[in-house]
Amino acid sequence: MAKREQLTRRAVLGSLGALPFLSWARAADTPPPSLLYQREAAPLTAAGQVPNVMGFEPLARRALPPAHYAYLATGVDDDHTVVRNQEAFGHYQIRARRFADRRHLDLTREVFGARWPMPLYLSCVSSMGAFHPEGELAVARAAHSRGVQMMLASGSSVAVRPVLDACGGPLWMQLYPTDDWAVTEELVRRYTDAGVSAIVLTLDNLGRRRNNETLFSAMARDSRPCASCHVNNSHDMWRRGPIFTGIDTSRVTQLEPDEQTLQFFDRLRAQVKVRLIAKGIVTGEDAALAVQHGADAVIVSNHGGRDEETLRASIDCLPEVVAAVRGRVPVFVDGGFRRGTDVFKALALGASAIGVGRPHAWGLSAFGQDGVEAVIDIYARELDAIMRQAGTVNTGEIGAASVLRA
Ligand SMILES: Cc1cc2nc3c(=O)[nH]c(=O)nc-3n(C[C@H](O)[C@H](O)[C@H](O)COP(=O)(O)O)c2cc1C
Repeated sequence: MAKREQLTRRAVLGSLGALPFLSWARAADTPPPSLLYQREAAPLTAAGQVPNVMGFEPLARRALPPAHYAYLATGVDDDHTVVRNQEAFGHYQIRARRFADRRHLDLTREVFGARWPMPLYLSCVSSMGAFHPEGELAVARAAHSRGVQMMLASGSSVAVRPVLDACGGPLWMQLYPTDDWAVTEELVRRYTDAGVSAIVLTLDNLGRRRNNETLFSAMARDSRPCASCHVNNSHDMWRRGPIFTGIDTSRVTQLEPDEQTLQFFDRLRAQVKVRLIAKGIVTGEDAALAVQHGADAVIVSNHGGRDEETLRASIDCLPEVVAAVRGRVPVFVDGGFRRGTDVFKALALGASAIGVGRPHAWGLSAFGQDGVEAVIDIYARELDAIMRQAGTVNTGEIGAASVLRA
């Protein structure tokens, strides 16, 4: 179009808009951009519409009764470590690189000799029946459909066998040994007979002494009787099954023994014939000891800030653990991972893969299996995006040179 013609057109349209009637009609049709974004967003009705992982959090909050939401969200004391886990990713910056062949990006990762579609697994979250009627079964189906590793919690609402069947692949089973060794032995036997590929010993839950103030205050605001869904009206994992069903738990008083020593670890190591993974390691000293005493992997974790108020974010604990382990076994990490960039940073700091807890529970709460799948897909999409920016075309290329301490 000739320049003169363009100008004439613009002048005519502009002068028409100046007429009161036409300017009203135009405004009604298309509000100015400054108003457009202020409109209330359409309600999200399908998991695929949620733009990012954090977008599932308010949907879960809306879907759940106050006590169940608080069970999922809270930590200990003032919940500061929960918050720190997320904020600490701001301590690291990613170095973008420009020259790379990005035609074939490879997100896969080799873990224990298997090729994972991406360096992410679903960490254990107890009592998922509190979030969705299909609970752990829906999570297992999502893990299966995306080929993602699942870790099942000792406090699962569903027994091990049906979850194994639903996830259709190697299942990691989290272990709370309890303070009765006879129960520990029976649990290990039960998990091994069921066919789990690894037992994950949680080391950071120090019994009844944790201060769940914020959870208890939310529970007090929930008028529903717990007996409606808590078997035996109990919040004690070993009393409400089904993982513990049929085991004599009459001498159990807490989930972990007070004498959680290296001797205890050695005794357990001798008992466990599948892989044994130590979860809840946050220092180089403990990582070195765990490896020396036969751990097949360690997980850097503060239980999502649910057991300790140390103010040390998992991502900040990772470098000293990686240094102490010296590549002898895989180092996994969980706590506060909400973006593909968070995953990237952990890989750059030496993690083999990362675990997520609350995010897939939010997805489950809001949309069941679809929600869990959508959460996994978002991590994959975002990791893909940042790998392109960083010029790292496979996960093995992500390394120390990919990040800076801010
Ligand atoms: C509601 C809830 C229950 C959990 N239950 C267990 C559990 O029984 N055993 C365990 O080792 N970790 C448990 N975790 C911790 C997770 O496995 C994981 O370490 C943590 O959630 C990671 O942090 P994130 O939630 O910020 O991703 C639980 C986490 C949540 C949110």
